[in-house]
Amino acid sequence: MKHLLNITDLDTDEIHQVLELAQRQPSSLGYPLRSSEGTPIGAALIFEKPSNRTRHSMEIAVVQLGGHPIYTRGEEVGLDTREPVEDVARIMSGYHGLIAARVFKHGIVERLARASSVPVINMLSDFSHPLQGLADALTMVQEFGSLGGKTVAYVGDYNNVARSLGEICVILGAHYRLACPEGYDASSDELQRISSLGSGSIEQSSRPQEIVAGAHAVHTDTWVSMGQEAEKAQRLEIFGAFSVTTQMMALTASDSIFMHCLPAYRGYEVASEVIDGSASRVIQQGHNRLHASRGVIAHMLGVKR
Ligand code: CP
Ligand code: NVA
Repeated sequence: MKHLLNITDLDTDEIHQVLELAQRQPSSLGYPLRSSEGTPIGAALIFEKPSNRTRHSMEIAVVQLGGHPIYTRGEEVGLDTREPVEDVARIMSGYHGLIAARVFKHGIVERLARASSVPVINMLSDFSHPLQGLADALTMVQEFGSLGGKTVAYVGDYNNVARSLGEICVILGAHYRLACPEGYDASSDELQRISSLGSGSIEQSSRPQEIVAGAHAVHTDTWVSMGQEAEKAQRLEIFGAFSVTTQMMALTASDSIFMHCLPAYRGYEVASEVIDGSASRVIQQGHNRLHASRGVIAHMLGVKR
């Protein structure tokens, strides 16, 4: 794998490698972001959107691997406004050992990757959130031992997070079940594409109670992603029946867990009693962003398990 723009840039073995590297002590990974003379190698982190987990976990992962992260706001670099994306990629490739970007349009990370001579990591686009998918898988593997044969439900908007989660679940052999309102769901082509990725399965319904029945993990995400603020009122109305409540969790497997990539909006996509209750793994999941990011970078820079 040269770049990580989507989960599908990793094959099954590479996902297992990343998850194994993620669980190793940082010092055992050999500081791949340090030159042979011992000087730190740079990592460019460009953010067109706000972030808590992604920025902090990526900065610390880079430091733990011996490198030096440089955070830059999107408007400061001015992707395609101050200068073309390709010039940014070519210049930054000369300073840094990797470039990571959080962007509005997925096409921007694709163009960065085409022009860059160093690995490019998608830190969230409108299309996918692969670092989140890897941390989600790591959290469920820690919980269940493996994802093979487990039922993973996602309730809400079929968005970047839902797509990356579905891809990794099917690749790792889980049954992925989506509950989304009509018009905010996965197309039949998309369901077919994901179903062909691995030994798991995918199905979809607009009835959340059916989808979560017997699930081992229930995931959700905000109903209003970054960049969709103008649709907020309409979305809150449409998604009203897709809130993960204690009543909904009562339909799941007896030892099921609740997950959310965060930030969460209590009283909307999830009830406080669920996200702050004993089945919730959201803090562990958030902390796993650090371990997953470190595993990805180590893998991209050639560290073997
Ligand atoms: N889950 C996630 O990506 O969080 P941030 O937006 O805070 O980085
Ligand atoms: N779907 C959300 C995820 C935030 C981490 C968004 O894109 O805003």
